[in-house]
Amino acid sequence: MSYARITGTGSYLPPTALTNDDLVARGVDTSDEWIVERTGIRSRHLADAGQMASDLALEASRKAMAAAGISAGKIDLIVLATSTPDYIFPSTACLLQSKLGVSGAAAFDVQAVCSGFAYALTVAEKFIRSGSHRCALVVGAEVFSRILDWNDRGTCVLFGDGAGAVVLEASEEPGILASALHADGAHHAILEVPGQVCGGKVVGQPFVKMDGPAVFKFAVRVLAEVAHETLDLAGLDATAIDWLIPHQANIRIIQSTARKLGLPMDKVVTTVERHGNTSAASIPLALDAAVREGRIKRGDTLMLEGVGGGFTWGAVLLKF
Ligand code: ACO
Repeated sequence: MSYARITGTGSYLPPTALTNDDLVARGVDTSDEWIVERTGIRSRHLADAGQMASDLALEASRKAMAAAGISAGKIDLIVLATSTPDYIFPSTACLLQSKLGVSGAAAFDVQAVCSGFAYALTVAEKFIRSGSHRCALVVGAEVFSRILDWNDRGTCVLFGDGAGAVVLEASEEPGILASALHADGAHHAILEVPGQVCGGKVVGQPFVKMDGPAVFKFAVRVLAEVAHETLDLAGLDATAIDWLIPHQANIRIIQSTARKLGLPMDKVVTTVERHGNTSAASIPLALDAAVREGRIKRGDTLMLEGVGGGFTWGAVLLKF
């Protein structure tokens, strides 16, 4: 049976960058010192008013396809992870497909918040391993700035906008080695946007609501557990990991996960400092940054892992 292997990566950040001091200047009751000390974040990018998740996804996808050396016509599956879709429906994956100027491929969204990319990659891998599809575009794209309450300093300083994409193709060479996905909906209330549209009005709260300390504890525990589970499935241990590419929520969560895996920080890709938390986009954004900087090379063993609202969590171990 063939493997599913990443053959190209791409990413896109909207041009407007906002530093912590810019947030203070905009009236957020915070400081650069507080944000850097608690989260490691120094700046984040924000989409322009007219930019939707599918626009960010399009730019990232074009770069991933160019890196893979394929045209959009070759893609037979689009899986797009987002919690900030363009519309209620159709899916952002279908809107991306239209912007790519192609038709016919299966296209759908995956909603697993900050674990979305780990979920989307795993789903796409299963399509490819089954033999039903051969060339997938897997995307994480978010405009989280649209669901932030700028008066809530506990959340608005944490997030940014962006998109990352990979082309995943059937291959005789490995490829994705193992993956594990989990959820526990009992913890939905520690991180949620508890709103909906009904009768033409927003009902409930259309902004991110978070119990930060509870999220922190939960994330640190499950990220270590799911990394070990995925290594076990592949019959490997943590010494096999060349690069850990965790969801970029918070540098302290990342450092704690690396410590639990016995990995030095120089084997961990971090972009949280300049991207903030871009939810489903954070892992493919970090992956693409490290690939383009020449740090990640063909043949390296990568551990990608995410955790987010739901609660959801997952990891993907792969040979790049
Ligand atoms: N600037 C200044 N002060 C702030 C800010 C801010 N931006 N935000 C909160 N504070 C204050 C609080 O009001 C509180 O003040 P008080 O003691 O006078 O009441 C104080 O700082 C401590 O608040 P806590 O929420 O207890 O702060 P904590 O040390 O837990 O840090 C943080 C908050 C950074 C959110 C932390 O809990 C955390 O990192 N949690 C993980 C959350 C996360 O990463 N979420 C991302 C989404 S989830 C995901 O992607 C997995």
